[in-house]
Amino acid sequence: MKYFLALMCLLESPLHALAQCTVPASEFELEGDYLLGGLFDIHHVRAPVYHGRPETIDCSSQIFILSSYRRFQLMRFSVEEINNSTNLLPNVSLGYEIFDHCSHTRNFPGIFKLISVNGLIQPRGTSYENVSKVIAVVGPFSSTDTLTVAPVFMMNLFPMVSYGAASSALTEKEIFPSFLRTVHSNRDAIEVIVKIILHFNWRWVAFLNSDDDFGNDGMELFRGRIKDTEICLAYTNSINVNTNGSLMFRQIEEQNVHIIIVFTPKLTAEVLIDSAIERNVTNKVWIAGDTWSLNKRLPKKKGIKNIGTIIGVSQPVMPIPGFSNFILSAKRQNHCENKEKMFCNQVCNCSSQTAEDILAVDPSFSFPVYSSVYAIAHALHNVLKCGVDKCNGNIRVSPHMVLAELKKSNFTLLNQSIQFDENGDPKFGSYSIVFWNHDGDAEEIGFYKFHPSVNFFINSTKIQWYTQGEVPTSWCSPECPVGYAKKQTGIHKCCFNCNICQNGSYIDSTVDPYKCVSCKENEWSAIGSTSCQLREVEYVQFTDIGAIMVMTGTWALVGLTLALSVLFAINYNTPVVRSAGGPMCFLILGCLSLCSISVFFHFDVPTVSFCILRLFPFILFYTVCLACFVVRSFQIVCIFKIAVKFPKLHSWWMKYHGQWLIITVAFITQALFLFIGYFYAPPKPYNNTVWYPDKIILGCDINLKATLCSLVLLLSLCSLCFIFSYMGKDLPKNYNEAKAITFCLLLLILTWILFATECMLYRGKYIQTMNALAILSSIYSFLLWYFLPKCYIILFQPHKNTQKYFQSIIQNYTKTISQ
Ligand SMILES: *[C@@H]1O[C@H](CO)[C@@H](O)[C@H](O)[C@H]1NC(C)=O
Ligand SMILES: *[C@@H]1O[C@H](CO)[C@@H](O)[C@H](O)[C@H]1NC(C)=O
Ligand SMILES: *[C@@H]1O[C@H](CO)[C@@H](O)[C@H](O)[C@H]1NC(C)=O
Ligand SMILES: *[C@@H]1O[C@H](CO)[C@@H](O)[C@H](O)[C@H]1NC(C)=O
Ligand SMILES: *[C@@H]1O[C@H](CO)[C@@H](O)[C@H](O)[C@H]1NC(C)=O
Ligand SMILES: *[C@@H]1O[C@H](CO)[C@@H](O)[C@H](O)[C@H]1NC(C)=O
Ligand SMILES: *[C@@H]1O[C@H](CO)[C@@H](O)[C@H](O)[C@H]1NC(C)=O
Ligand SMILES: *[C@@H]1O[C@H](CO)[C@@H](O)[C@H](O)[C@H]1NC(C)=O
Ligand SMILES: *[C@@H]1O[C@H](CO)[C@@H](O)[C@H](O)[C@H]1NC(C)=O
Ligand SMILES: *[C@@H]1O[C@H](CO)[C@@H](O)[C@H](O)[C@H]1NC(C)=O
Ligand SMILES: *[C@@H]1O[C@H](CO)[C@@H](O)[C@H](O)[C@H]1NC(C)=O
Repeated sequence: MKYFLALMCLLESPLHALAQCTVPASEFELEGDYLLGGLFDIHHVRAPVYHGRPETIDCSSQIFILSSYRRFQLMRFSVEEINNSTNLLPNVSLGYEIFDHCSHTRNFPGIFKLISVNGLIQPRGTSYENVSKVIAVVGPFSSTDTLTVAPVFMMNLFPMVSYGAASSALTEKEIFPSFLRTVHSNRDAIEVIVKIILHFNWRWVAFLNSDDDFGNDGMELFRGRIKDTEICLAYTNSINVNTNGSLMFRQIEEQNVHIIIVFTPKLTAEVLIDSAIERNVTNKVWIAGDTWSLNKRLPKKKGIKNIGTIIGVSQPVMPIPGFSNFILSAKRQNHCENKEKMFCNQVCNCSSQTAEDILAVDPSFSFPVYSSVYAIAHALHNVLKCGVDKCNGNIRVSPHMVLAELKKSNFTLLNQSIQFDENGDPKFGSYSIVFWNHDGDAEEIGFYKFHPSVNFFINSTKIQWYTQGEVPTSWCSPECPVGYAKKQTGIHKCCFNCNICQNGSYIDSTVDPYKCVSCKENEWSAIGSTSCQLREVEYVQFTDIGAIMVMTGTWALVGLTLALSVLFAINYNTPVVRSAGGPMCFLILGCLSLCSISVFFHFDVPTVSFCILRLFPFILFYTVCLACFVVRSFQIVCIFKIAVKFPKLHSWWMKYHGQWLIITVAFITQALFLFIGYFYAPPKPYNNTVWYPDKIILGCDINLKATLCSLVLLLSLCSLCFIFSYMGKDLPKNYNEAKAITFCLLLLILTWILFATECMLYRGKYIQTMNALAILSSIYSFLLWYFLPKCYIILFQPHKNTQKYFQSIIQNYTKTISQ
């Protein structure tokens, strides 16, 4: 291994001429009792270069990144500060060994150097006789670099504390057991970005991510995070420094996206924004990730104002006390880069960088570097069981002991309580939200704090939007008006048509903005409603004035029938009573009273029994009445006509009491029809919701098929009655019940025709009162026009109520017939 590493370094391109040495040591190394490894991407390989020889890459010839160099200096400062302090590691000196990590594939010599002891990498299982002086490594910066080198450190539980690798994949402790970080995971950064988007109610966004582990991870997290929100990802692209911007910006413009999230490392973002300025992209809100939101060059660039408004998520700017003095004094000395002693990629041609440049550069990730060095120092402090002025020198420190203590870290640094969660992610720190103002500065406009509880704040008034006033909007389809449902028109839920919710349905956009929900049966809603209202329940109460009048009429009817019965009973043997039917009169009167029972059940809330009793007594007993009248009118015809022509039929009729037979048959048949009909389809209460959208009218659902037989019977009796009474209309005056019956029937038919017309024209609860009235009037028509005239004769014209008078009429009539 020793020879391998040496070979790789010797084959490197020759080192360059040395500057004047004032300090005989490299910036990359510091001797100490314990060493920290450091991996910083001071240079960056922009495009992978083909190599045919087994050689490592020479980082110093690649692109120099000043902000990384600043972080590198910060680590040096932190170690020196710890070494200087007398209480953290008393009488223990801390050193470092730092490598320039410019490529994730060709930088392994440095990694092997860190884990080797005396140039040898110890295989698993050997006793650690000679323990590595390197106890932990700080870095690397990027997610890709970390993911490639981490497995080498993980196998021996060599602690890695990264200050920049944010990929959420590194949270997996089964794969990266000795990995910790002082920077927040992408999950947190994406959460803040989504919070900003939600805060400004943007719906239609583009997400540009770098085509690497960092960017792709952010992309996936973003997709997952917005799944249950109203944000839609209109456009997404994985970009790198060579991406052709013209096509991409045209597509974004075509999609009418105004919000662009740029989740890439600093270099890619710089190229992208430069390209946007060059291509005259306008009217956009750019949301910067924490890798470039504190960029120093771009906000000052000419034309940056034209591309729109730039908001960013950044790490809080936190000055590290003493750091500027350190840089200033360090730059006064010139480090000697000793060619013979030097390992590969521990060199930097950085003498040209002035202290001012270093201090003016993007300060992101300063505190993460500072806190990772301190975390390791505190862990070492605990491993060595350090007291106030000395540490236990007999303890042989191995990296996994440091790891165990690192996980338990709990100390305060610059007023921040440094702790790690079970995944090695920081339980400290926060994000700032910045706005690039017109002075070219990143102005802090809000914050997002994680601990002790989540706290999000944005002062929107500090943002000067490119719209010169109100917050820019970004949507595929504008929000629907209240009472309208969305109907998605494409693959995005943000693109939709608006359809008004019809009456009888409503929309609650907090539950489901895509669906009109039907109201419950006892509720209603107007067109375009957001809720349903209860329907008003309507029925005729007993106390209703109409109901009271109808019922009074019914009681009067009952009284009248009773009075008539008494009167007829008293005058039972007079010819008027006998011609009216004699005993049949009492049957008819009784049935009419029984019919009136139905009237009372037309009011109040209908129940099953109410519904049955609304029609049952009426139909049954009215059938009997009609049968009686059929028989009466038949007898009238029979006496005067049939008796003459068919004497046999007449004698049969008299012998078997034909009249009672027919009445009984009619009664039994109707009773059977009703029972069978009600058995198969009993009437039940019915809530009528059809007539009025906002009302429920209580009624009875009467099955027409089941009552059809009864009605047909009723109608046929009616017709028979009509036919017979019509046939007898020319009978002797004053002796013609036939005329009275015809008149009654006409009245009856008129009543029900009126009621049917009413039903067609009027819809409302009073239909029940009408129905009751129709029944009552059917009963009254017989009472008034059939019985009352007879009553009049009995009471006021007793001379007409004599046998003699009747006979004279009959004789007159017989004479006319026989002529
Ligand atoms: C450490 O101590 C030395 C001398 O005691 C001093 O020059 C240097 O500035 C100190 N460094 C820090 C970072 O405090
Ligand atoms: C580190 O600290 C030790 C004493 O604690 C001191 O002797 C040594 O010079 C310090 N090294 C640096 C580079 O400050
Ligand atoms: C500091 O360490 C040196 C050897 O490393 C030892 O000789 C000296 O006694 C120690 N000083 C204290 C105060 O422990
Ligand atoms: C430990 O180090 C010593 C001196 O550097 C060396 O002689 C010895 O062989 C080493 N032992 C192992 C197991 O590497
Ligand atoms: C970018 O694409 C446009 C059109 O697709 C093309 O005209 C242009 O040459 C491309 N630029 C580069 C640098 O590839
Ligand atoms: C951008 O605008 C400038 C000046 O208005 C013009 O010179 C340049 O060609 C434009 N660039 C593109 C890509 O349209
Ligand atoms: C180092 O930097 C100086 C000044 O910028 C430059 O002249 C020299 O060529 C550089 N050397 C290398 C090897 O890059
Ligand atoms: C961290 O230390 C502080 C005091 O130094 C202590 O109050 C707190 O409980 C500790 N937290 C944990 C998680 O150990
Ligand atoms: C730390 O907090 C204390 C009080 O909470 C405050 O007085 C001090 O200024 C803070 N220091 C820093 C560097 O923020
Ligand atoms: C928001 O910023 C404006 C302008 O800088 C300032 O006047 C206002 O007080 C700030 N509001 C809050 C709540 O900080
Ligand atoms: C909605 O209103 C229309 C007209 O006003 C009416 O015809 C329709 O029956 C109503 N629909 C519902 C479900 O209420």
